[in-house]
Amino acid sequence: MSKPDLSHLRPDVRAMQAYHVQAVPPGLIKLDAMENPFVLSQDLQAELGKRLQAVEINRYPGPRTEELQKALAEFIDLPREHALMLGNGSDELIGLLTLAMARPGAKVLSPEPAFVMYKNFALQMGLEFVGVSLKDDFSLDLVGMKEAIELHRPSVVYLAYPNNPSANAWSESDIAEVIEWVSAYKGVVVMDEAYQPFAAKTWLTHMRENPEQNAQVILMRTLSKFGLAGVRIGYLVAQSAWVEELNKLRPPYNVSVLNAECALFALEHQEVYKAQAQTIMQEREKLFHDLAAIEGLTPYPSSANMMLVRVGAQGKGGDELHAQTDAWFKSLQAHGILVKNVSKMHPLLAGCLRLTVGAPKENQAMVQAFSQIAQSM
Ligand SMILES: Cc1ncc(COP(=O)(O)O)c(C=O)c1O
Repeated sequence: MSKPDLSHLRPDVRAMQAYHVQAVPPGLIKLDAMENPFVLSQDLQAELGKRLQAVEINRYPGPRTEELQKALAEFIDLPREHALMLGNGSDELIGLLTLAMARPGAKVLSPEPAFVMYKNFALQMGLEFVGVSLKDDFSLDLVGMKEAIELHRPSVVYLAYPNNPSANAWSESDIAEVIEWVSAYKGVVVMDEAYQPFAAKTWLTHMRENPEQNAQVILMRTLSKFGLAGVRIGYLVAQSAWVEELNKLRPPYNVSVLNAECALFALEHQEVYKAQAQTIMQEREKLFHDLAAIEGLTPYPSSANMMLVRVGAQGKGGDELHAQTDAWFKSLQAHGILVKNVSKMHPLLAGCLRLTVGAPKENQAMVQAFSQIAQSM
């Protein structure tokens, strides 16, 4: 059989790596992807099953996705003169926004380390990506941000609030400054609130109270961390003029009827998900305290459902630090715990693992594993 000739493909696409999803060896406690660890009660599962059974999967999505849009608008108390657009996860929305902004010479900027898809989508669509390193404590380097924004005038600046993987939330006055600088030349600031269910604050409050100062802001949310990662529903909120334009690029029927029905069901039972988020936030504080008590570990404060933990001793060279972090990662796996090794993702993360805050028993098992490994090292 002859092999296909790929020579008409873009050379930069051929040089790219696909997004890597870490394999999950059977039996491990999965704490690597910021998923909600709780499953629905049997009663709710049965009720959802009935709802899904009745969905007309022979028809294209229609009224139910519109109803989901309305239900989400109510859920977030959509500010006046703003509109909401649904995506197949917020990943799709990041892609659509990048596509919409891909004028010749356009650039995308975000602090780094950050969610990798900001950069990946920029490169996929031919935009230049500018990363501005965070400070050592993972706070925004405001001076560096201002310099880079003035120099590059990026069309889009992403601020994940809280950030992935550092899990911290930027100061409100820093955010306001970034928005002012970018608005001055009519760029867009994306407030990516993927981790909002676990955060004390939301930028939506400012968008509602000060629409003029936030006219260049697009807020993104997802139901993934809320508890529906498998369902793939993201949404963005902005003043209607933005949504009207972005909607032109949205593939028809981008949200499946099954996804819409699951999300409507979850919103009807939002008290269940809110209680789960409360438990996760309590567990987060306990986890921080327990990990900080283990010699050699430095957990970082979190406003999300994840936590960065420095396991590598500072002062070591890069390779040694990565090897030490890898040894922790593998030992955790041997103890039945799967986390994410982010040591090589960015120089600031050398020596770090990223954990998801799980259910109480999972966190207990994780702390126990860390403690046993620390004793054996
Ligand atoms: C900051 C941030 N934004 C967006 C996403 C994508 O979320 P979704 O599952 O809705 O595509 C993630 C996923 O981890 C994330 O960390």
